[in-house]
Order: sequence, then C-alpha cells, then structure tokens
Amino acid sequence: MKKDNRLVIGNWKMNPEDIESAKRIFLSIRKQAEKLRRTNVAICPPSVFIRDLCKIKQDVSIGCQNFFYEYSGPYTGEESILMLKNAGAEYAIIGHSERRALGETDEMISKKVSVALKEGVKAVLCVGEGERDDDGNYLEFLKNQIRNALSKTQKKYIDDLIIAYEPVWAIGKKDEDAITGRDMHEMSIFIHKILADMYGAGDTLSIPVLYGGSVSSFNAEGIIKEGEIEGFLVGRQSLDPESFGQVLKIAEEA
Ligand code: PGA
Repeated sequence: MKKDNRLVIGNWKMNPEDIESAKRIFLSIRKQAEKLRRTNVAICPPSVFIRDLCKIKQDVSIGCQNFFYEYSGPYTGEESILMLKNAGAEYAIIGHSERRALGETDEMISKKVSVALKEGVKAVLCVGEGERDDDGNYLEFLKNQIRNALSKTQKKYIDDLIIAYEPVWAIGKKDEDAITGRDMHEMSIFIHKILADMYGAGDTLSIPVLYGGSVSSFNAEGIIKEGEIEGFLVGRQSLDPESFGQVLKIAEEA
C-alpha cells in the first residue's frame, strides 16, 4: 500500500466481453492511476483476464471477484485462491451481495476470508444490509454478518483485511441513492467498534473501511470526506475510465 492507506477498488463483475476491451479499459485507468501519490488502485476483473492484465499492471493492482475455499480436488468450475494468487491477484472480493444472492453462506464466506488471509491475499469482505428499518435492526444484522464472516480469522492475519460496506439497497442504483456522508460516518464508527470488540481497538483502527453502492463522481466527495473512510468499491463506474478517474481524483484529494 502507498503511504496514506487510501484505496479504490473497481469491481468489473461479469464485464467486459473480451480481453481487448479489458486491456483498453485497464490501460486508460492505469493512466489516471499513475498520477496518484496517496491512493492505491485495484481492479477486480473476471478471473480469465487476470493473467493478461497483470502483464500491464504497473500502478494498478489486480484482484479476483471470487474463489473457492478448498485448495484442490473435485470441485468442477471452481478456482482456488492459490491459482488466482499465482495468476497475479493480490486482492480478493469476498461475500459480495450478488454472490450471497446466488447461495453463498456465512459459513462459506468465513472459510474464504480465512483462506485468503492465510495465503497473503488482501481480503475485501463485503457486508451490508438489504434494507434499513427505523428500529435499527439492520445494525444487529450487520454486526452478525461481520462476526460470522470473521469467525475463522485469527488476529494475526487482520492486517490484510479490508471491509467494504455495501448496503444492498444502494447497489446498482442512481448516484443520489448512495449513502450520505453522514450515515457513512456512523457506519464506519459502528464497523470499527465491532472489529475492536473482536480483536482489540489498537489493532483494528487501521483496517480500511470502503463504501460501495452506486459510487460516482457525483457522490464520492461527500461520502469520503464526511464519511471519513479510506476509499471505495466501485461497480459500474469502474468500467468507464473517465468517471472512474474522477472518483480516483476525489479520493486522492479528499
Ligand atoms: P455499483 O456496484 O457501483 O454498480 O452500484 C457496486 C458493487 O456491487 O460492488
């Protein structure tokens, strides 16, 4: 990581269609990333593009969007963390709500977090409630999500842990539907409190908290400044180098 612990991760999801497009988008992002002094940039493409993009990565790190928690064996269609790490992945998104919706359980997520961290891959643990209620039950929900996901992770590994707070109600929506800076600030304090209760305050304060969910150049500044967070997990806008570049600039200058 660069000195300031600022981090913006692009999650390309199941895009783009071919390696030529992936390289084109990646190179434009790289151009913007070269100018940054305090912001780390990582792109998580579909795994089939990881190796090729690693050859041209320079100022941008590469991550994977998923992996299986076993190391080898009869698991048709799955890829292990070591395969992805050996291909060049330094980060792994884990527990994204779109994967949870496909059936990924807390138990699977907890295994993945522990395996990634053991292998020295930075674990980007995604958490977030489906909806908010006036009674604050979503806070309890979030607390359980974090505690369950980290239930197999020992304290000695948490230096490579990153929490991405991604409320499901804000993913894939319009810029104005993202969280407000003020609410993000509350959530960041709440998340750090949960981590502190698990591992001790001194060692968890530096765990980066990112926000994800319709991040754009329109809302990024308020969220990072008022939210007092380390950066973003960006979906759609990370496929648009110009918009993503603006988000990077905002993170750099915030
Ligand atoms: P979005 O996706 O920025 O397109 O809302 C965020 C995410 O799902 O990580």
